[in-house]
Amino acid sequence: MSGKIWTHKGTFLLAAVGSAVGLGNLWRFPYLTGENGGGAFILVYALTIAMVGIPILIAESLLGRASRKSPIMGMRYLTESHGTSKGWQSIGWMGAAAAFIILSFYSVIAGWAIHYTGLMFSGSMAGADAETIGASFGDLLGSPVLLLIYHTLFILASGLIVGLGIHKGIESGLRFMMPLLFIILLIVLIYAVVVGDAGAAMSFLFTFNLADLSLEGWLQAMGQSFFTLSLGMGAIMAYGAYMSGEASLTRTAISIAIVDTAIALMAGIAIFSLVFGSGLEAGQGPGLMFVTLPIAFADLPGGAWLGGIFFILVIGAALTSAISLVEPVAAFLVERFGFSRPAAVAIMISGCWFLGIATVLSFNVWEEGTIFHTLFGRSAFDVLEFLTNIMMPLGGLLIALFAGWALSREEVMREMATNDSWFQVWQFLVRFVAPTAVAFVFLRTIPQVEG
Ligand code: PHE
Ligand code: NA
Repeated sequence: MSGKIWTHKGTFLLAAVGSAVGLGNLWRFPYLTGENGGGAFILVYALTIAMVGIPILIAESLLGRASRKSPIMGMRYLTESHGTSKGWQSIGWMGAAAAFIILSFYSVIAGWAIHYTGLMFSGSMAGADAETIGASFGDLLGSPVLLLIYHTLFILASGLIVGLGIHKGIESGLRFMMPLLFIILLIVLIYAVVVGDAGAAMSFLFTFNLADLSLEGWLQAMGQSFFTLSLGMGAIMAYGAYMSGEASLTRTAISIAIVDTAIALMAGIAIFSLVFGSGLEAGQGPGLMFVTLPIAFADLPGGAWLGGIFFILVIGAALTSAISLVEPVAAFLVERFGFSRPAAVAIMISGCWFLGIATVLSFNVWEEGTIFHTLFGRSAFDVLEFLTNIMMPLGGLLIALFAGWALSREEVMREMATNDSWFQVWQFLVRFVAPTAVAFVFLRTIPQVEG
C-alpha cells in the first residue's frame, strides 16, 4: 500500500485473499456444517457464494475503487457526487460495528490456535488418543484465565501490526504463507482421507436434502458465505480503494471466491473424514477443528512438527483477516472523530478486547444453565455470531442495492470495463437476485428465532 495504489496489480487479490482465508474456512465452516447436518447447509452456502457473494464482492470492491477512500468517507463521497440519500452512508458505520463484533470473538478463537501451537511443538499430543485430545480441549475451555491470555496476545498482535503500519509490508509474508498453508492442508487432507472414513465424509457433505436444514441453519449458511468472503462490512471496500485501475473486478472476485471455497472444502473433507473415522461427533460445535486435527497429527509421522507449523499458519491466516477487521473501524474513528491512527487502533483494540471477555466466559463461567444463558436463551458467543449472521448480509444487501440502483451507469461501466452482456448479468444479480435472496432468508428465519 505504498501511495494511493498498490504496487503490483496482483496485490489487491493477495490482500483480499489474506482477508478472506482465515478461521472462517478452517474453523467456522466445518463446525457450522457439522452442527447443521452437512449437505443442505453446504448447498445454501455454495449457492449464496455464487449468486449473491460474488456479485456483491464485485460491487464492494467497485465502491472502494470508484471512491478511492475508506468505507465511511467513500460512501459519503459517492452519495454526494450522485446526489443520493445520505442513508446509504449507514453501510460505512454499520460495517464498522460488524467488524468490531467479529474481531471480539475472532481473537478468542485465534487464541486457541496459539495454545495448540504450543501443544503440538511440545510433543505432548504425540500418540494421544481421541479421548485425551478431547479432554485437553475441555481443559482449555474451562480456563477463562488461559483463554483471556491468548485472546490478549492475539488482539495485541493485530493492533500492533496495524498501529505500526507494518500491515503494508505483509504482502511478502502472504506470498509464502498462503501456499504453505495450502500444502500442509493438502497433506492433512490426503492423510485424513487415507486413515479416516472419506466415504462417510463425502456423503455427509454432499448429500443435499434441503428439508434437513433448520430455519436458523439457513441464516447461518448465508451468514457464513458473507463471513468467509469478508463481505458486507467494508473490509473489501477499504482494500478496493487501493486496487489498481487495470485489474478486472470480475476476474478478481471469482478468484477470491474459488480460493476461499477450495480451502474451506479441503478443511471440511479432512475434518469429517477424521470425525467419521474416529467415531467423533460431527455436531460438537466450535471445538471441532481443534479436536479432530490434532488426532491426525498425533499419529502422523513428524506430526508434532507438522501440526505445530499448521497452527502457526492458522494464526497467520487469522492475523491477516484480523488486520482487515481493524482497518474499517480505525478508519471510522479517524474520520468521524479525528483521532490519530494509533489512537484509533488502540481504542478499537481495547473495545474488542473487552467485548471478547463475553466470548471467553461463554465457554466456562456463563455456560448453559447460568445467568446469561437463562436471560438470552443462548451463550454470549452465540449471540455475537448471530448478530454477524445478520449484519454482514444486511450490509451486503445495502451494497448491492446501492451499486445496482444508485450508482450511475457511467461510473459502473468505467470500473467494470467489461462488455455489455457481462455487465447486464452482474447488474441483474445485484439489482434483483442478491437482494431477494437476502430478504428471503431474513424474512423466513428472523421472525422464527427467539431470544
Ligand atoms: N473472512 C475471514 C475468515 O474467513 C473473516 C473475516 C470476516 C475477515 C470479515 C474480515 C472481515 O476467516
Ligand atoms: Na474465509
